[in-house]
Amino acid sequence: MTERVSRLINGLAQTRRLILEEYQELIDSRNPETAQALAERAVAERKNIYGNAVYVRGLIEISNICKNDCLYCGIRRGNPHCDRYRLTPKQIMECVEEGYGLGFRTFVLQGGEDPHFTDEVLCGLVHDIKCRHPDCAVTLSMGERSRDSYQRLREAGADRYLLRHETADRAHYGRLHPPEMSFDDRMRCLQELRELGYQVGCGFMVGSPYQTSATLAKDLKFVEEFKPDMCGIGPFVPHKDTPFRDCPAGTVELTCFLLSIIRLIYPPVLLPATTALGTIHPEGRELGILAGANVVMPNLSPVATRKKYELYDNKICTGEESAQCKDCLSARMRSVGYEIVTDRGDVKK
Ligand code: 5AD
Ligand code: FES
Repeated sequence: MTERVSRLINGLAQTRRLILEEYQELIDSRNPETAQALAERAVAERKNIYGNAVYVRGLIEISNICKNDCLYCGIRRGNPHCDRYRLTPKQIMECVEEGYGLGFRTFVLQGGEDPHFTDEVLCGLVHDIKCRHPDCAVTLSMGERSRDSYQRLREAGADRYLLRHETADRAHYGRLHPPEMSFDDRMRCLQELRELGYQVGCGFMVGSPYQTSATLAKDLKFVEEFKPDMCGIGPFVPHKDTPFRDCPAGTVELTCFLLSIIRLIYPPVLLPATTALGTIHPEGRELGILAGANVVMPNLSPVATRKKYELYDNKICTGEESAQCKDCLSARMRSVGYEIVTDRGDVKK
C-alpha cells in the first residue's frame, strides 16, 4: 500500500472524515490490501460498541404495489409482468406473531408506495403491533410521504424509518428515477424523519448504473454529515423487466469495501448485510459482517408472496419458512464467529 493511501486510512480512522477527493481516491486505489486494512479497523470499531452481536430484524414485505417507476426496481409501476399483491392486516399480524414467537423484537414493514396504505391504515397497523408487543420496535420502509404523515405514524408508535437516499448526486439521482421524482423531495423526507424523532436509515445501491467513484464519494460525504442511525447498502442487481436489465450487478468486493468505510465514518451505525449481497454471492452476507456490518434481516413474509416481492432477479430466501430463514442466518453468523441477538437492537450512540 502506498504511504499516501495508508495516511488516508489512518486519517479516516482518527478524524472520521475525508474530503470528497480523498474518498474518491480511496475508492479508486482500492486493492485487497487496502480492503483488508479497512476491514480490520472497521471490525475493531464495531467490536468496541457491539461485541460479536449481530442484530436481527424481521422483514415483512407488505405490498408490491407501487406508484413509482424507479428505473432499477422490479416492482416499478411500469412493469406489467409483476404479479401484484397486498397483505391484509390479518396476514401482517400473523407474520408479526410468528416472528415474535421466533424471538424477533424488531419488525420492518416494507412495501412499495401503495396508495392503499393511507395514514389511517398504516397507523392502525403500527398501533396494533405496539399494543400487542410494547417490547418491540416497529420500523417502516414505505417510501416518501408527507411530513404530516410521518408525524402521525410516529405518534402511532413507529420507532424507525428506512428510506434509502439511493445516491447523493443530483444528476445521478435523475438518471435512476423518472422525471416526476426529485432528489430534493428525498432529502427533505430524510430531514423531516429525523426532526420527528425517528431513528433514520438512509442508503444506496453499489454498482447502480451511471455510478462512479465521484458519486460514491458524495454518498460517503452524505453519510458523514447526516450520521444516519442505519445505513442500508447492497449491490445493484438487474431485474429482467426493467430498463436496466442488461446492466452489470454491483460487486461483493466494492460493497464490502464501502461497508468498512461507513463503519469507520460513523462507528455506531447499524449496517445490514443485505439480502442483495447474499444474492450475488453464496456467502455475501457473511462477507458483509466480516467487513463491518452488524445487522441481518431474515424474511418473515408469507412464503406465498415472497417470490412476488422481486426488486431484482434471483432474490434469495423466497422459498424458506420464517423459522428456516432465521435458523439459516443464525448458523451463517455463527460460522464466522458472530451471534444473532433478538433484543430491539437500538443504535448505541
Ligand atoms: N437491485 C438492488 N437493490 C434494489 N433496490 C431496488 N431495486 C433494486 C435492484 N434492482 C433497493 C433500493 C430500495 C430498496 C428497498 O431496494 O435501494 O431503496
Ligand atoms: Fe433466508 Fe438463509 S437466510 S433462507
